[in-house]
Parts: sequence; C-alpha cells; structure tokens
Amino acid sequence: MIITTCGNSAQIAQKLAKKLNAKFSPLTIASFPDGDLYLKFNCDVKGHEVVLVQSFQPHPDQSLFDVVFAAETAKDLGAKKVTLVAPYLGYMRQDKRFNAGECISSRVMAKLLNNSIDKLITIDPHLHRYKSLKEIFKIPAIKLSANPLIAEYIKKHFSKEVIIGPDWESFQWAEDIAKHINVQATVLKKTRFSSRHVEVKMIHPVIIQDRNVIIVDDIISTGHTIAEAAKDAKKKGAKNIYALGVHGLLVENALDKLRKAGVNGVVTTNCIEHPSNRIDVTPLIVEALKKR
Ligand code: R5P
Repeated sequence: MIITTCGNSAQIAQKLAKKLNAKFSPLTIASFPDGDLYLKFNCDVKGHEVVLVQSFQPHPDQSLFDVVFAAETAKDLGAKKVTLVAPYLGYMRQDKRFNAGECISSRVMAKLLNNSIDKLITIDPHLHRYKSLKEIFKIPAIKLSANPLIAEYIKKHFSKEVIIGPDWESFQWAEDIAKHINVQATVLKKTRFSSRHVEVKMIHPVIIQDRNVIIVDDIISTGHTIAEAAKDAKKKGAKNIYALGVHGLLVENALDKLRKAGVNGVVTTNCIEHPSNRIDVTPLIVEALKKR
C-alpha cells in the first residue's frame, strides 16, 4: 500500500503510513507557467493499492481537480486500486437545486469521483437530503463517524455539560454524542422572521442555567449557525459555551464571530487541519483501511 496526498491532510497521511507500515510518498503538485496543473508521483505505484488522503479544505475546487488527476495518473501508471480517504468531503451541502438553474454540486463531484477512484472513505459527510452516500456514489463509499471520539473528548474535558445541536439536521451529531456519554442534549429549531430577526427554540427543553453548553455541529464554516445558538445559550444563563465541530472550515471571520457571540472555546477534529484541532480521527481511518 502506498499512501499519498495532494497537500491537504498531510499529517493524517503520515500517521496512517506509520500505523499501517505503508510507504508515504507525497505527490509533487505545481503549475505550469500558464496555470495548467503539473502532477507527479514520486515512487513506483505499479501493482500497488494507492491511498490518496485529501480533505477538500482548503481549496475545494483544486482538491477535487487534483484528486481526479492523481487517481487517473495512478491507474495509468499501473496501480491496482485507488482509494480516496477524504476526511472532509466538500460539495455535499449543495444537495438540491435550491434556485432554478443551479448546479447540484454534490452530484457532479460524485460523478467525477465515481469515474476516477475505486473506493471512498470519508468522515461524517453532510448527509441531509441524501440519507446515504449510495444515493450519489456507485463505487463503495464508506461513511465513518467521529462521534465516539468526540464523546470521549467531552467526557474527559468537561463537567456539568449539556449538548446542543444548533439546527434540526445536527441531531445526528448532538443526540448521538450525548447518548454515548449519557448527558442531556437538544437541538434547536430556527425560525427566521427577517434577515436580522431569527428566533431559536429548543425541540426538547433542557436546563442551560449554570451549565457548560457544548454546541455540536458537523461543519463550522462562517460560524453563523453556532453563533446564533451561542447567543441563545448566553441569554439562558450558560456558564461557559463551547463550539465543537467535526469539520472546522472556519472561513472569513468565524472565530471572531464565535467569540463575540459568547463562545469560550472552539474544538475541532483534524479532518481539516487547524489550530483548533483537539481530536485525532486517524484511528477510525486505520481500522477502515485494515478492512478489505
Ligand atoms: C449546515 O447544514 C451544516 O450542518 C452547518 O450547520 C453549516 O454548514 C454551518 O455553516 P456556518 O458556520 O456558515 O453557519
């Protein structure tokens, strides 16, 4: 097995190689003077399984393009199989045509991967309107979840905690994590009255007063969703408020926005490399790669 990366997730790729006793050989990726992509394998992949480890953040477009070029090149060089490990799989949120004429990006992304890789392993993909990866992938597509690792982290580092999912879809993280450690959880229902007037309501009311509130979501992008939930928790008397995301995209001024909304700390997994990473997902991927 040869483990490689197009640049993102290099830390996970190196750990995987060490744990699986496999060769780690990152790709050379550059641009020709006119901007065309240049890509090169730096070891002989003929007859080997190539495991391409690449999260789709930062630079989702480039990541997708690099992955397709790398997979096609590996096959062309005689690789036996190409497995993509994408700890964060981008493009999943555009899972329907919200407005006439829009591209359903998740389908296009999946079509490109279906044609170029043999297997996909990903962690907590954004499954909202799709209930399973099978709805868009024809290749074996394995969904892993960081929930048990997140639950373990919470148990070790917090006390008097209550878990909140900031919107309806987040129940698959908030409620599942809470069950692992037997703490109370609820999800919020958001009603938008205008661009400046949003009201959030708990689906099952839980006591917030003097509690350590942990707001859990799959993705923290601009931070807006969690900031709204944090403001509500603050109003209800939370002692401390933490934001916990599987995928910390943390774009624009997300950290600043969260801080201003009363968030005391941000914790993420290393699905996307970021200084807020506290939870290592490598063990999940090791187990998945061991299963043939
Ligand atoms: C959306 O459905 C996701 O689960 C997240 O809630 C969302 O992507 C977070 O985005 P932002 O941080 O920009 O509010």
